[in-house]
Amino acid sequence: MSINYPELLHIVKGWVEEAGETIRTSMDKPLNIETKSNVNDLVTEMDYQTEAFFKEKIAAHYPHHQMLGEEGTGESLRSTKGVLWIIDPIDGTTNFVHQQYNFAISIGIFEDGVGQLGIVYDVMKREWFTALKGEGAFQNDKQLEKRKPVTLEKAIVGLNSRWLVWEHKNGGEKLHDLVHKSRSARSYGSAALELCYVACGRLDTYINLRLSPWDYAGSLIILKEVGASATTFSNENPSLLEKGTFIASAPSLHEELLSYMPEIK
Ligand code: IPD
Ligand code: CA
Ligand code: CA
Ligand code: CA
Repeated sequence: MSINYPELLHIVKGWVEEAGETIRTSMDKPLNIETKSNVNDLVTEMDYQTEAFFKEKIAAHYPHHQMLGEEGTGESLRSTKGVLWIIDPIDGTTNFVHQQYNFAISIGIFEDGVGQLGIVYDVMKREWFTALKGEGAFQNDKQLEKRKPVTLEKAIVGLNSRWLVWEHKNGGEKLHDLVHKSRSARSYGSAALELCYVACGRLDTYINLRLSPWDYAGSLIILKEVGASATTFSNENPSLLEKGTFIASAPSLHEELLSYMPEIK
């Protein structure tokens, strides 16, 4: 049976709203914070709790759908066949812990690997970015325009300055060159939001040397609906199952920007 995606968007927005309210309410209480791969890789009970909330909802309402989440759900998944939800319960955990601001819930729904529905919700600003395949992308209730051409000289680059340090240590200069030639650079600390900022024109590109599917799954569909490009540094479609390099940009800029991407060994 085919899925009614506009109806599903309405349902999932309700769930995201509920999860967002729980996160906002939790911020009055002390948080249990742990580290993962290194001392700066934080995770909180709210990351786990929010992922579990969506996992239960999906299992109860859509038992035949698959889910991949940052905090362990679907970690053995090897195929994108069928309906796949890719969820980052909190994108921007460092911001959540340190600033209580600029973090998002991100959901992308794919059918046989094709993006159908994207939601990125800025929990504190209560700002929605949503898209349905072929139906355009929205920022709250306003439909986003197709991305207009922009030149590098007038472009705002989204990039975490840690990558410039990484590049310097590895003897490279390309990203430095790119930042130098652009109008300016910004870093907000939530890839999902920064990718939506490319979609709505607050940024003209967002670059990350190592992103996971849950970081970009929701935004991918939103970017596509405004005609922005989103690829790996080798100009391939980003994987829905594996980490990799990632660059999204206004279509006029993408090819030029690819020539500035460092080689990742
Ligand atoms: C991280 C954020 C951050 C980006 C990292 C991501 P998380 O996601 O999106 O901005 O630079 O690469 O891992 O761990 O906060 O969900
Ligand atoms: Ca994380
Ligand atoms: Ca993330
Ligand atoms: Ca996360």
